[in-house]
Amino acid sequence: MPANAIVDRFRRPLRNLRISVTDRCNLRCRYCMPEAEYVWLPRRDLLTFEEISTLTDVFVSLGVDKVRVTGGEPLLRRDLPDLVGMLAGKGLRDLAMTTNGVLLADNVEALRAAGLGRVTVSLDTMRAERSKTLSQRSTHSSVLAGLASIAPAGFTGTKIDTVAMRGVNDDELVDLIEFGRTVPAEVRFIEYMDVGGATTWSPDLVLSRADMLARLGEHYGTITPLRNTDAAPADRFELPDGTTFGIVSSTTQPFCATCDRSRLTADGMWFRCLYAVEGTNLRDPLRDGASFEEMRSLITGKWEAREDRGAVERLAERDRMPFIPLATLKSNPHLEMHTRGG
Ligand code: GTP
Ligand code: 5AD
Ligand code: SF4
Repeated sequence: MPANAIVDRFRRPLRNLRISVTDRCNLRCRYCMPEAEYVWLPRRDLLTFEEISTLTDVFVSLGVDKVRVTGGEPLLRRDLPDLVGMLAGKGLRDLAMTTNGVLLADNVEALRAAGLGRVTVSLDTMRAERSKTLSQRSTHSSVLAGLASIAPAGFTGTKIDTVAMRGVNDDELVDLIEFGRTVPAEVRFIEYMDVGGATTWSPDLVLSRADMLARLGEHYGTITPLRNTDAAPADRFELPDGTTFGIVSSTTQPFCATCDRSRLTADGMWFRCLYAVEGTNLRDPLRDGASFEEMRSLITGKWEAREDRGAVERLAERDRMPFIPLATLKSNPHLEMHTRGG
């Protein structure tokens, strides 16, 4: 742990920051942002790249050494490579981006040149028709082109995020792993979570980690768990031929006990947990001229008071239903998963 790292009530350090650069997205995936229209964050509220950079400096001074640029869809933010360039100069251990891949091919070289370290692309299916049903857009071929552009641009450590849903894409686990080999990218299957826009979530749609391992075991034979070296959400596994994949089991086996991450929304609200209902407004003090030290002590105080274990608390819930009803989401865009960076 870095010497400057602050810790919360459960001695979890603040090391990982997810920076959402826009709440907008060009897809409408049913598990994330299924509605046609949303209440968007007002443009004047969006942090400038300079403001994001300043806040990142404060976080870095408190122990953050892993930053992920997210959205909505981050590539909808104009000139994103400029922000990446600013973040890349901060000596981070890891600088990555999660994207839906639609606009990736056009931006990949600029992102690489700006110093982005890794790319993660969301891909839930290999089938164009199914992709259209799931995302309500016909963009599958652009996503595949985006994936194909990553390795030639010089990136390594690429990952594919697949939300595995029972009866939706659970017949494609093997196909996705096989595709991942060709990219090359490590596929991570994510248990369907009852967050934000997942308003049609139900326990019946969750394909659990145990189910995934059983299905993959039937096809590949012995699956060996790998030791987790990071506080990353995915547990990693190895197939007999050495191919690796991950499972993010936030729904059935949450990783709150080691969670070192927090999220900054595009308008400067800071959330200490994916499931937190309240965040800390960092934009206003920054715009009101708070000093570096004042911002540091605001963040430190909040982190040291952190007790969040959102996913663990959800697991303890009986008769689990979507976390937040649609009407409440509509009145408070900050509760949306797509506003707080996935
Ligand atoms: P790596 O550093 O590559 O491991 O990235 P990552 O897994 O943190 O990032 P990514 O954006 O690829 O997220 C993968 C999945 O983990 C997504 O479904 C996220 O919603 C989920 N996830 C990310 N952060 C959290 C979190 O803080 N809590 C919970 N419960 N799930 C999270
Ligand atoms: N459950 C699980 N994963 C989700 N994501 C978005 N919504 C959900 C959900 N309800 C994933 C996307 C993206 C990542 C950042 O979060 O697939 O890859
Ligand atoms: Fe961390 Fe909250 Fe996610 Fe648990 S639910 S892993 S505490 S962000």
